[in-house]
Amino acid sequence: MDNKFLEKYGTWAIVTGASSGIGVEYAKQIAEKGLNVILVARRKQMLEALATEIQEKYGVQTKVVECDLSQDNFQHTLLDATKDIDVGLLVNNAGMNCEGHFYRGGLDRNLQMLQLNTKAPFILAFEYGKQFISRGKGGIIFTSSISAFSAHPYLAHYAATKAYILSLAESMNYEFKDKNVDVIALCPGMTKSEMTKGMKEGPMLMEAAPVVKIALDNLGKEAYVVPGLFNKTQVFINSRVLNRDNAKSLTGALLKRVLPGVAKSAKKEKK
Ligand SMILES: NC(=O)c1ccc[n+]([C@@H]2O[C@H](COP(=O)([O-])OP(=O)(O)OC[C@H]3O[C@@H](n4cnc5c(N)ncnc54)[C@H](OP(=O)(O)O)[C@@H]3O)[C@@H](O)[C@H]2O)c1
Repeated sequence: MDNKFLEKYGTWAIVTGASSGIGVEYAKQIAEKGLNVILVARRKQMLEALATEIQEKYGVQTKVVECDLSQDNFQHTLLDATKDIDVGLLVNNAGMNCEGHFYRGGLDRNLQMLQLNTKAPFILAFEYGKQFISRGKGGIIFTSSISAFSAHPYLAHYAATKAYILSLAESMNYEFKDKNVDVIALCPGMTKSEMTKGMKEGPMLMEAAPVVKIALDNLGKEAYVVPGLFNKTQVFINSRVLNRDNAKSLTGALLKRVLPGVAKSAKKEKK
């Protein structure tokens, strides 16, 4: 239980993308602080299993909302499900990626990502932000990425969606401050989740728990946070040491080696 956190952001929190990865961790750590949690994603069974675990472990209430956030007008499902609930914290976490050469994901998948990673969190922040301002308190957490800080060839469109989120969160942080509503963007690097399944263990890959803890600890203090020394160093070099051109070339060369799909097609091209 965290009385200060509960007083400011209780009594209910919404966590999108709560069926796996970073979202599961958000739900658990927020419940541990004593807030009831609304779990949102498409895979209902996984949300229900997490809801049971959270109720038993932390003694809070939960609500499962099955919702595809990439669909038009998805927000009505969530607004209807929460109309009689005192929501004080919104965690805009659900997201997907399209990695590889620019055309690899296809247009439909890219448009789905655009809707899920940018339009959906914007709409939810717009709707619940309004409610938080009128109740005189609340919090909004966005999950951005370290890819938001500089151009990322081979993650071009994904990084652009995350840059949108970082910019939005930083500006909202400024505008909402005097309304007693806290806004923060969490900018993780590689973190263990379904998105990074199969990736090699090492200093580049963080566990979800410390990543989420940094976001919750800094809500109300910072406009954005980058978890982990490795990620902080990468952001520092790309955005402060190198000029934009060199940062782009270095990142492109690195991702060409690291991203499995890109490495494979680069080898084919050589033959
Ligand atoms: N892992 C990393 O290295 C990393 C790094 C930087 C940023 N991030 C960001 O962290 C956030 C969480 O990702 P993760 O790493 O935890 O990946 P993950 O394990 O793949 O989780 C993604 C979550 O988003 C949900 N989701 C996907 N499509 C959805 C849709 N159309 N409607 C509703 N929910 C949807 C998924 O649930 P369903 O499939 O059940 O719908 C799942 O709960 C994302 O915004 C991601 O961009 C991740």
